[in-house]
Amino acid sequence: MRLIKCKDYDEMSKTAAEMVAGQLLLKPASVLGLAAGSTPIGMYAKLVSMYEAGKVDFSEATAFNLDEYYPISRESDQSYYFYMERHLYSKVNLKSAHIPDGEADDAYSECENYDKMMETLGGIDLQILGIGGNGHIGFNEPGESLNAGTHITELTQSTIEANARFFESREQVPARAITMGIGSIMKARKILLLASGKNKREPLKKLLAGKITTASPVTILNLHPDVVIIADIEAIG
Ligand code: F6R
Repeated sequence: MRLIKCKDYDEMSKTAAEMVAGQLLLKPASVLGLAAGSTPIGMYAKLVSMYEAGKVDFSEATAFNLDEYYPISRESDQSYYFYMERHLYSKVNLKSAHIPDGEADDAYSECENYDKMMETLGGIDLQILGIGGNGHIGFNEPGESLNAGTHITELTQSTIEANARFFESREQVPARAITMGIGSIMKARKILLLASGKNKREPLKKLLAGKITTASPVTILNLHPDVVIIADIEAIG
């Protein structure tokens, strides 16, 4: 596990964008695993600028997002689909982009199909992750056990509270989500974990301490052979 320390959010975003661009240069047909949330917004903005300047090309690349609220309409401006359209999908030339369907009638088949699709395309080359203040990755919340594959999950109260900032009220945050499981994330060939701000200090400290526990799902990354953490000073503490 490698830790890259950045002075601030902007440097973290730039460093991450350069690593994604490097991945695409080495393997243009990469399968990228992407995250939503506030952390990667700066990275997506840098990637869009690099794309507009002709410095990165997504034309052979495929993207799979980690998660989506359930149920939620794609048109809702709180959906991760809407977020990805706004920050990346509509602005670069990705060959194809996938996100769990928050409107699926049969969420169980949706989860199964999502895993199959990722496998068919050869699995994820580079997975971008943020961390929840409670240590979640994707929406794999702390608990007694962790799921391997894509599944439907109940969001914890702390995640609902943390994400309420994107909604008009806390009551509007969907209580469930479809998320890639820990197994899907761990199968990625390389993982890039981004952390910015004081509220990521605690989960980052737990990850760096090296003790693996389902109570802080991010700690599982200690078992992955190729993880790069890009964190700003506030998150490192
Ligand atoms: C988002 C996701 C979540 C976020 C995490 C941090 O697709 O899977 O795990 O990465 O909740 O969110 P922010 O970046 O908003 O602090």
